[in-house]
Amino acid sequence: MLATAATLTVSAAQAAGDLNVICSADVVICEQLQGDFEAKHDIKVNMVRLSSGESYAKIRAEARNPKTDIWWGGTGDPHLQAASEGLTEKYESEKLGELHAWAQLQAASSGHRTVGVYAGALGWGYNTDILKDKGIAEPGCWADLLKPELKGEVQVANPNSSGTAYTALASLVQIMGEDEAFEYLKKLNDNVSQYTKSGSAPVKAAARGETGLGIVFMHDAIAQAASGFPVKAIAPCEGTGYEIGSMSIVKGAKNMDNAKIWYDWALTPEVQSRMKDAKSFQLPSNKAAEVPPEAPKFEDIKLIDYDFATYGNPETRKRLLERWDNEIGAIAN
Ligand code: F6P
Repeated sequence: MLATAATLTVSAAQAAGDLNVICSADVVICEQLQGDFEAKHDIKVNMVRLSSGESYAKIRAEARNPKTDIWWGGTGDPHLQAASEGLTEKYESEKLGELHAWAQLQAASSGHRTVGVYAGALGWGYNTDILKDKGIAEPGCWADLLKPELKGEVQVANPNSSGTAYTALASLVQIMGEDEAFEYLKKLNDNVSQYTKSGSAPVKAAARGETGLGIVFMHDAIAQAASGFPVKAIAPCEGTGYEIGSMSIVKGAKNMDNAKIWYDWALTPEVQSRMKDAKSFQLPSNKAAEVPPEAPKFEDIKLIDYDFATYGNPETRKRLLERWDNEIGAIAN
């Protein structure tokens, strides 16, 4: 009995206090996670929602005095960049063996400084009413997005702040070659009305009829359709990239024990199966988690063999973003 009491005291001591979380996915799933975690643990979650690139920049800026304990979600590339710059903590969760190979590989390739929590393919969502009214045929290929009839109808995020937009940039480079991809993006700029901060904002705007089409992860387009908006998700005919949404513990986290409690918890099938309740239709990383029927099936999409090691590498990411600033950001409308 004494031993049991001692064990309870230790776990109660660990499971108290605060946890500072950056959440880089949709605000609805972020708030659901916060509520579910707080309901299960005596730990107060202080959460901020930031896009993937912004989150990386915040963690980097605070490296000497970390204000964040855990970074949940967001595209894997900036998590890999943070890992290779030593900004995140090595941690091998006991749940690792329960995960799909792609999520385990994300962990292994970062020296266990990040791990995959979900995956999703890049594409776009278009407003079926707007395109029909304007007599525009369904854009099924990257090449279609350059057609003059889509002038002013396309939105995509800025790849500096958004992991979605960085995935788009890196995917186009891998599909077309770097110079050709930048030529493509220059032409695409003629049709782009706005470069948003958050990756999913373009399809939310399309859903509300503010634009015809948003280049986004397909699951974000499906979330709008599932909310009743006239949005159709497209997987580009030439092929497309994908994300391994990731999670990392910040190096020097003030609430390290609590960060590990969240990390193990977030990899469980129970938590991942609940993502669909927030209309988050990514593929969960735990093999036992329920796959939402709405989730785009990877076997139906022409996926490229996305080179995470290269495009999550600090040198490549920095260089591509600088080139984007110079060649696209500089001419942005
Ligand atoms: O909205 C969810 C989501 O698309 C995630 O799948 C992804 O990791 C994240 O948002 C990317 O957001 P952003 O492009 O704003 O960094």
